[in-house]
Amino acid sequence: MAEYIITGGRRLLGEVATPGSKNAALPILAAAVIGRRSIIHNCPDISDIRCAIDILRHLGCKVFYDGNTVVIDARSIITHDLPRHQMEKMRSSIIFAGGLLARFRKFSAYQPGGCHLGARPIDLHLQGFKKLGATIDIDDEKIVAKANELAGGKIHLANPSVGATQNIMIAAALADGVTIIENAAKEPEIVDLQGFMIAMGAKVSGAGSSTITIEGVHELRDAEYTIMPDRIVAGTYLAAAAITGGAIRLKNTGAHYNMRPIVEKFIDLGTFVTLEDNAICLSAPHRLHGLGYITTSPHPGFPTDMQPQLMAMLAIAHGNTTIEETLFESRDKHVPELAKMGAKIASPDSRFFHIQGAPSLHGTTVEAMDLRGGAALVLAGLAAHGQTIVKNACYVERGYAAIQNDLQALGANITYIS
Ligand code: EPZ
Repeated sequence: MAEYIITGGRRLLGEVATPGSKNAALPILAAAVIGRRSIIHNCPDISDIRCAIDILRHLGCKVFYDGNTVVIDARSIITHDLPRHQMEKMRSSIIFAGGLLARFRKFSAYQPGGCHLGARPIDLHLQGFKKLGATIDIDDEKIVAKANELAGGKIHLANPSVGATQNIMIAAALADGVTIIENAAKEPEIVDLQGFMIAMGAKVSGAGSSTITIEGVHELRDAEYTIMPDRIVAGTYLAAAAITGGAIRLKNTGAHYNMRPIVEKFIDLGTFVTLEDNAICLSAPHRLHGLGYITTSPHPGFPTDMQPQLMAMLAIAHGNTTIEETLFESRDKHVPELAKMGAKIASPDSRFFHIQGAPSLHGTTVEAMDLRGGAALVLAGLAAHGQTIVKNACYVERGYAAIQNDLQALGANITYIS
């Protein structure tokens, strides 16, 4: 099991670039199955992207990947059966189902895996497929969907699920007629998926608002697209500067609108933030402030994917904060690990966290149990006195491409042991 060894206490200073977004790239790779030849730039070199590429190859697509650009030829696709092994590794594997349904009018799949954040049902995805005309049979663990024809219609999501919105957008692209998704997710990654789909010749509009309209077309064309910057990696790097009292310039941060919910929290924490064209500068000359009460919520609220990293910062802030996690029922595996480092966090249940800022943290051995929780432990290690070992680096590697290299470039004392 790979691990990070961190000796904390160094202020991070300097400049790094934001990589492409995992959560934009994964649905875009899945959408490529309805296209012809797609060239997708700025794909981050992380294990989840390699898993998505394995799925594309399993389906029969020809795929070339150089660690940044993925070229997918989906004309050679031969099967509508999704592979169990890869599905169990990654939640977003289910987004391939929408594309297969569009292309073959059928698919078979398994319950997707992914980070353990509590129950993560796919009922809204399947309800959406049914509304488009599919029948779905769930036999033990296998999900089999078939449709004689796919017909557009109005689909109202009971909650604005990111994955369900993406799956329905892709499935509806080749359906007959117009599909309207109401109460759609508004995340920037949905807008990026729409951008790619338009590049392929799909007729999609409204992404970024709660109503998305997809007018089905008969065929799509070759496409070339560049993935948006990863706003969560950007937030994590800003947190690395903030938690160490450092000062960084983060390049390639993209549209300020996408970063606003995260940047606002850094300002509330007492850091100084300057927005430049496609870059963000942050400096943290003083101890961070507690925030009172904050809640995670869908975009444009504060993203759940920054909740653990925010908690690491608040663990050494001046004052108290209550975080309410509203998206996932148990995104809390990092809490006992941060406590081992001296964080004072009371958690009456798995959605509420009362954080009493401590003067400092101390290094020890901790275990990453999921992607963002693991990133939070790395951040805590950067600020802690002494040495921190973060075990199970594989979770962090799902979403951060060699995070140790960027942190070293900023002056951190961090080593990766495979
Ligand atoms: C996406 O997951 C992201 N993953 C997650 O990023 C992110 O935390 C999440 O959106 C929320 O922003 C990718 O984009 C690959 P949801 P997704 O469907 O699509 C419930 C990270 O760290 N729900 O919006 O799985 C669900 O249980 C990750 O990068 C249903 O009840 O999120 C959850 O409570 C982890 N039924 C809530 O909705 C459904 O059919 C939000 O889930 C679908 C979801």
